[in-house]
Order: sequence, then C-alpha cells, then structure tokens
Amino acid sequence: MNYLLKVENLCKDNILNNITFSVEWGEMTAVMGPSGSGKSTLLYNIAGMDNPTGGRVWLGSSEITSMTEDEKASVRLHKTGFVFQQMNMMKNLSIMDNILLPAIHANKGKSGKTKKELTERAELLMKKLSVSEIAERSVKEVSGGQLQRACICRSMMNEPMILFADEPTGALNKSAAAEVMAEFEKLNSEGTTILMVTHDSKVAAACSRVLYLLDGRICGEIKLGKPVKGTERQREEKLNGWLSEMGW
Ligand SMILES: Nc1ncnc2c1ncn2[C@@H]1O[C@H](COP(=O)(O)OP(=O)(O)OP(=O)(O)O)[C@@H](O)[C@H]1O
Ligand SMILES: [Mg+2]
Repeated sequence: MNYLLKVENLCKDNILNNITFSVEWGEMTAVMGPSGSGKSTLLYNIAGMDNPTGGRVWLGSSEITSMTEDEKASVRLHKTGFVFQQMNMMKNLSIMDNILLPAIHANKGKSGKTKKELTERAELLMKKLSVSEIAERSVKEVSGGQLQRACICRSMMNEPMILFADEPTGALNKSAAAEVMAEFEKLNSEGTTILMVTHDSKVAAACSRVLYLLDGRICGEIKLGKPVKGTERQREEKLNGWLSEMGW
C-alpha cells in the first residue's frame, strides 16, 4: 500500500502508548476520543511540532522522527499545513498579510515565488473559501467562521502534502462549523489529504475513516467510505452507534 503518513509504535511520555496507524494519499481521517485522551498530543507529535519519546513517523518516504529540528521546521513549512483550534493569527496584521506570512517565509531566496505570485495564490484560495472580501480587514473585524476559513487559506499556501487540523470547528457555532467543514470536503475532493481531531460527530461523519483514541491508545476504527450526497444522516447515525459502543 502506498501510504502518505505512517505512524509506528508512537509513544510520548505517559500520554501516547504505542500508536500505530497509516493514512493513504487523499484520505480524510478524523481522530475522536474523550478530553485528555491525547488527541492534540498525537497531532503535534506526528506533525513534527513535538518530539515523541518512542516510535517512528514517516511522511511519504521521509522519516520525520529521524530529522533535526531544522529539517522538521522545513517539512512543517513546505510539506504540511496546520489548522489550530485557536487559529493563531497575528492581530496586528491584515487577514491577507497573515495568509501570506508563511508563504513569504517559504519562498525566501532566488528560486522562490515572487510576492506578486504569492498574492495571486492567496487571492485564489480566498476566493475558493469565500473570504475575498475580508482580505484587508484586521483579525478583530471578521466572524469566527471567516477567520477559520482564512486560517485554512494560510495552511494551504505552500501546497501541503497533508493538512493537520486540531478541532478546526471547536470555536465555531453550528453554521460556521458547517461552512468550514464544507471547505475541508472540497479541498479533500480536490486531492488534499486531511487528518483532523474533532469532538463533533457531525464533522467526523464527513470523513472517510474515524479513529478512536482512549488513554493514549487507538482502541477502535470505523470506515465510513467517501461521503455521498444525501447520506449524511445515515453516516452520522452509523458513527454515533459506533461511538456509543466505544463508550463515547
Ligand atoms: N505539555 C504537556 N505536559 C504535560 N502533560 C501534558 C502536556 N500537554 C498535554 N498534557 C497531558 O496529556 C494528556 C493529553 O492531552 P491532550 O491535550 O493531547 O488531550 P486531548 O485529547 O487533545 O484533549 P482535549 O479534547 O481536551 O483537547 C492530558 O492528560 C494532558 O493533561
Ligand atoms: Mg486537544
């Protein structure tokens, strides 16, 4: 099997215990589990933002866990995107400048794209995620849903191989969460591989697979397949039935 992400016996202190799973190219996978079960820790350790105490992680053919801090920083910048629950936008910059920031950093040097090219890409992404009109506004002048969609634009600027998202709808109301989820589904249908943490079964039901984490171990997995329009309720019911078996 041709995996994009492979996690083998991942351990982190007493928080993660021997986590093993893989993600195929193009999959959209959710990780669910009770508060404190280790979901964020798992994502941070896979994405190279934290150092596991054991096990190995590969992204494509590169082993993240054998890299230096500089090499991991480069992978984070060029190969992965991360959407945070608390968004982490710079408050003194406009939405557009926030979106451009990691891209400008990634394109320093002669062979990099020009600011004009990057601005064009940012405009394209903002159009796709329906946030063009807020480009010049400050972070304080937009709604939660708009801000999270802008964060997705920022995470997609450097054309990541995989997008990680930690509770991307956690700070949003129902309709904003639905907007953001629709964008993830669109990006996934266009080929972006996504691994997200969520406590919302409606959000997870849009994923093709859900992993259940309990006390730092993966104790279950359900395959829902690619979403088909009109089957949302059945998927959610199937997922909720399984989640209650898991003790959710
Ligand atoms: N930096 C840290 N140092 C020590 N313990 C930590 C650290 N970060 C998290 N933990 C602990 O690790 C466990 C897992 O935390 P984590 O944040 O990964 O849980 P989570 O599943 O994401 O929870 P939530 O759903 O509340 O976000 C918790 O017991 C937490 O207290
Ligand atoms: Mg968390």
